[in-house]
Amino acid sequence: ILRDEVRNILRPFQLTEEQIRRVMANLNTEMTNGLKSDEAITNDLAMFPTFVHHGPSGQESGEYLVVDLGGSNFRVSHVVIEERNRMRLNNKIFLIPHSLLLGAGEKLFDYIAECLQRFIDDNKLSLHKSNDHQFDLAFTFSFPCKQRSLREATLVSWTKGFSCTSVVGNDVVSMLQQAINRRKGLRIEVVALVNDTVGTLMACSSTYRDCRAGVILGTGTNACYFENIENVPKWIGPRDNTLKQVVISTEWGALGKNGCLDFIRTDIDRELDESSLTPQQQVFEKMISALYLGEIVRLIIVDLVQRSILFPGRMQKSPSIRPDYNIFLILRGSFYAKHVADIESDTTEDLSITAAILTSIGIHEPSYDDCYIIREVCKTVSLRAAKLAAAAIAVLINRLNMPSVTVAVDGTLFRHHNKFKKNLIQTLDRFVPRTHRLVLSEDGSSKGSALVAAVDRRLKTASS
Ligand code: BG6
Ligand code: GLC
Repeated sequence: ILRDEVRNILRPFQLTEEQIRRVMANLNTEMTNGLKSDEAITNDLAMFPTFVHHGPSGQESGEYLVVDLGGSNFRVSHVVIEERNRMRLNNKIFLIPHSLLLGAGEKLFDYIAECLQRFIDDNKLSLHKSNDHQFDLAFTFSFPCKQRSLREATLVSWTKGFSCTSVVGNDVVSMLQQAINRRKGLRIEVVALVNDTVGTLMACSSTYRDCRAGVILGTGTNACYFENIENVPKWIGPRDNTLKQVVISTEWGALGKNGCLDFIRTDIDRELDESSLTPQQQVFEKMISALYLGEIVRLIIVDLVQRSILFPGRMQKSPSIRPDYNIFLILRGSFYAKHVADIESDTTEDLSITAAILTSIGIHEPSYDDCYIIREVCKTVSLRAAKLAAAAIAVLINRLNMPSVTVAVDGTLFRHHNKFKKNLIQTLDRFVPRTHRLVLSEDGSSKGSALVAAVDRRLKTASS
């Protein structure tokens, strides 16, 4: 079924071992460069110091509200940290109207404050902490931010599907605080800003003492890890003997901006990039993460249709001539990572799962051959993503240079895409000689962000 033409189209997506090693070497170099200074224009990776220096000790406690923005779900949580970091969590997912993701920034923050109010009212929460405010809040904000402390964070750029105006260049902690203050009766203080990778790392490190890195494989992709401050020439915080390490949010999704991934980029990757919200940015992320996987597959399918390889005789050469025939072929973003996962793992003899999925998105009565080719496309794109993610995690583990490492992982791709996860682990085992394990961080970011705030409170109390 796989004609040479199909094989030729898919070949550029099949990474060789040598290419993976080159990606690893380039990522490692960019990580080192990013630690040197923020100024170098050729730096691909921001390598943001997060002002988180310590994992939890087990002695933290307290109650926190957490707002978690940037993944596939926007959540508000109430987290109670009890003895030995046992945690209780109550949360609610709120839908964000699409218009808010692309509208005025202030409106987005006002909406967050409104959701906080609803959450507190619905759960009848009251915590009379002090006269000034009732709740401490940790803000999980999963975008590239330059921090000057745990409570000061300037948004450098939007990524993923967000693009609100008047937020880039501003302090998002203070924007959230102002929106909260605008709502009379809401007495909350934002005490920490935490990237989702850092929340994920913190949540796991209370259970696994050798957990020194956190990775997100979801809507977007990123990683953080504990780095020795002596290896961070651009560190602007205090340098004393008590602070030996700081968690760095690598923002590895940006890798490739300076061209260092051009040797593996395909025409399809370029096409996807050009029509994205963030052209020429987040090159690595666009090859891996859930927001883009489905679109890569869709673009390959469109190519195959235009070459009359798929649905021969049933489609016009240019699908745009007959938009009524199949909206899927002309609508960007209409094929999801979930479709890729489900089709890839279709083991039915007649590929009925694939046929049902294609029918559900408007491709009626696909032939067995059509289904077979599309499953092959899904497998190839997903395998490339898994290999690239494994290459990046391998670099992280090798940098940590510990006898054994646990990496905390979260995100929809890792959670729900079984083939992706299997391929990722297999590739990782080939490229990392030392002992390692990947652990799913349950409710990672919200619990972890509360822990960041709690560690900070404990340290402040101890030093006062
Ligand atoms: C979760 C967080 O732990 O992981 C989210 O609570 C985060 O905020 C997410 O962004 C990544 O998953 P996804 O797939 O929803 O982007
Ligand atoms: C994007 C964001 C990053 C986040 C990641 C995972 O890459 O820029 O901050 O951690 O997505 O959500």
